[in-house]
Amino acid sequence: MRYIDFHTHILPEMDDGAKSVRESVAMLKAAEKSGAKTVILTPHYQTAMPISEFCAKRDEKLSLLKSAMKKDGGKFPRLLLGAEVAIDGSLCDKPDLEKLCIEGTDLLLLELPYSSWNDWHFQEVYRVIAERNLSPVMAHIERYLKRPKDIEKIDKLISIGARFQINAEPFLTFSGKRIIRTLAAEGLISAIGSDCHSLRRRSPDISYAMEVFAKKFGDAFIDYLYNKSEKLLSEHSNK
Ligand SMILES: [Fe+2]
Repeated sequence: MRYIDFHTHILPEMDDGAKSVRESVAMLKAAEKSGAKTVILTPHYQTAMPISEFCAKRDEKLSLLKSAMKKDGGKFPRLLLGAEVAIDGSLCDKPDLEKLCIEGTDLLLLELPYSSWNDWHFQEVYRVIAERNLSPVMAHIERYLKRPKDIEKIDKLISIGARFQINAEPFLTFSGKRIIRTLAAEGLISAIGSDCHSLRRRSPDISYAMEVFAKKFGDAFIDYLYNKSEKLLSEHSNK
């Protein structure tokens, strides 16, 4: 089984994810064992921090991680830098916003709040496209679909031009599985992510989720999802 992990908190000491380089290495090994061919490193970004400062810290942590991986000598997935960017009303006014995109692409992983959304949330997603010429991917979209009426939010985001990433964790619950199967059947899932924060808190091993997918839609679906995520990266490549 192979997949691209689109959403992780593996970079050490960047946020509430991996607490040390050692933990990061262990998480990457678990991801590789689970079938991850590419892991996108998406530490939390909030607008209070200048983007230049965030990127400098991210580069420093990546360099530490790469040294440890080299020293370890094990097999690891390909790594791409990115960020999980929390929406706020000033996001599109930030200089260098494009530096938060997934490495080599114009894809920006955006996180919406748990609480209800207002018009300005949708407007901000739209501004990312219209004013900054970037392509938003909405993080863990299943998290916001609790009631049947919530599907209207998805329709609005589709009309704006957003794409969707789901987390693997909801596969552990009946209601989560139901939501994800519905999204999958509608062809709305562009990417899957572990959203791992440690080996235990949303583990980087998401083989259980891929097995559910395979059981429901067949092994071909796993390849379809992998190819769709790979295509998303290549179609949005700016290299
Ligand atoms: Fe996350």
